[in-house]
Amino acid sequence: MSRKLKKSVAQYKDSFAFNTAINEFYSDKAGEEKHAESAVAARQRAAGALRDVSLPPLFKSVENSEKDKALKKLRDVQINNCIKCGLAKKRNLIVFGEGSSDSDLMFIGEAPGAEEDETGRPFVGRAGQLLTKIIESINLKREYVYIANIIKCRPPGNRNPEQSEIESCSSFLREQIDIIKPKIICTLGKFSSMFIFNEISNSVDGESIEFEKMGVHRGKIYNYKSIKVVPTYHPSYLLRNPSAKKDVWEDMKLIRSMLS
Ligand code: URA
Repeated sequence: MSRKLKKSVAQYKDSFAFNTAINEFYSDKAGEEKHAESAVAARQRAAGALRDVSLPPLFKSVENSEKDKALKKLRDVQINNCIKCGLAKKRNLIVFGEGSSDSDLMFIGEAPGAEEDETGRPFVGRAGQLLTKIIESINLKREYVYIANIIKCRPPGNRNPEQSEIESCSSFLREQIDIIKPKIICTLGKFSSMFIFNEISNSVDGESIEFEKMGVHRGKIYNYKSIKVVPTYHPSYLLRNPSAKKDVWEDMKLIRSMLS
């Protein structure tokens, strides 16, 4: 087989594996059932033990590392009792973030939904399960990356976060990024991309970047301090627009190549 043909077969296999994983997720009945089950389990857990949210288990980093301690302090001392904005009144649990504090890769989403609000964990609903598949498609485990949101409390009815809420909450995310120091941030969707673009634009040497639309920014690498930023579509958007999954696959391959 020629080298060119071998390469295109390998690419096909790669993209096939990704498509299979994603398709399996949102067309598969078993996936739906798993999702329903996890929602019930989430509610049950939320009613009991998980109310006392402890830092998520860390698999890659050494437990109680300095980074873990700093994250725990940020969560327990500053965020847990936060009443900086109106979302505090309606929240069930804050959704701080989870994963490996030592990870080179951090995903930033928008805001918790109903299941996240009940469990205190980011991306555990339908979009979250898709995110897990996406992470696994580049041979990583969810526990090896760090996942956080810009907003730590659920906006009612899953509405978009308001600018004032983003401003109230953003210092927490800034601090999380400073503690974790990832090499790569993957911003999921418009709001987290806009947030990072603002940070870049406001930094001393940063170029000024206006968010246009995801189609313009995805597939590109931006620099935020010494961190590479790769914007891509939010998993919720992918659930509504499956045709965008090929772009996300390209973005994931880009991230994988940057990690190795
Ligand atoms: N769940 C999250 O934690 N964040 C999102 O942006 C969407 C769902």
